[in-house]
Amino acid sequence: MDITIDIRDKSFKKERGVVHVLDHVYFHIDDGEFITVIGPSGCGKSTLLKIVAGLDTDYDGSVYIGRQKVQKPSVEQGFVFQEHRLFPWLTVEENIAADLSLNNAEIRKKVDELIDIVRLGGFEKAYPKELSGGMSQRVAIARALLRKPSVLLLDEPFGALDAFTRSHLQEVLLQVWAETKTTMILVTHDLDESVYLGNRVAVMDTHPGRIRHLIPIDLPFPRRKTHPSFQKLRQKVLREFETISEPPTTL
Ligand SMILES: Nc1ncnc2c1ncn2[C@@H]1O[C@H](COP(=O)(O)OP(=O)(O)OP(=O)(O)O)[C@@H](O)[C@H]1O
Ligand SMILES: [Mg+2]
Repeated sequence: MDITIDIRDKSFKKERGVVHVLDHVYFHIDDGEFITVIGPSGCGKSTLLKIVAGLDTDYDGSVYIGRQKVQKPSVEQGFVFQEHRLFPWLTVEENIAADLSLNNAEIRKKVDELIDIVRLGGFEKAYPKELSGGMSQRVAIARALLRKPSVLLLDEPFGALDAFTRSHLQEVLLQVWAETKTTMILVTHDLDESVYLGNRVAVMDTHPGRIRHLIPIDLPFPRRKTHPSFQKLRQKVLREFETISEPPTTL
């Protein structure tokens, strides 16, 4: 589904006044696009994602998913948080199903398929405390995908993971995207990740947060991070940061 974001103003009222966080954030995302968002800490990336998810409706403007105005969270918007937020008392398969019943044959089949896609076979009955960070994050992704969301919103989903696991999950996500053509918005601190995954990279500025640049990444998949054309686009995104006071943490 396509997304039309038109946030004129998002402010937080604090004791010592108003903090103006997002200012004129306008852009249109086509159905099936993969947008990566990169920007300095505190520029409003999570705030933007929460607004698209319907988790925050206290702002001036509007967000549409298809023709539907976003007014509350729904199954249309899958959300993967930075920390996986699994239920510790439920197994992997129960966490993926969550409020849906595994006794339903159709749900059971989909959960099994997703366990395959995120490569968690053999861990169906494991509890979160028995999983690594990367495995937990894969459960969270499978849980979001089970609901067949029209858009999948990911807020630094691989931020806390080591480079090897991160790289594996990037491949998992690209595979899911190729298979489902779900519209994706992924927030990251990692410049390489933004160029590796995105159709377009949205570079955000801070105080107040706005989209400084939308950079098309017209490289075919599979991409190679060492390829000269990849490096060229990476440089282009990096140049955008040279004019922002606080660069991203991972350059
Ligand atoms: N619930 C809230 N109440 C008050 N201020 C908030 C709230 N949530 C966010 N802010 C403020 O809004 C600004 C943007 O926060 P946000 O979490 O969107 O940034 P971010 O770009 O996601 O940062 P990071 O990269 O560190 O995750 C910050 O100045 C933050 O202090
Ligand atoms: Mg954030």
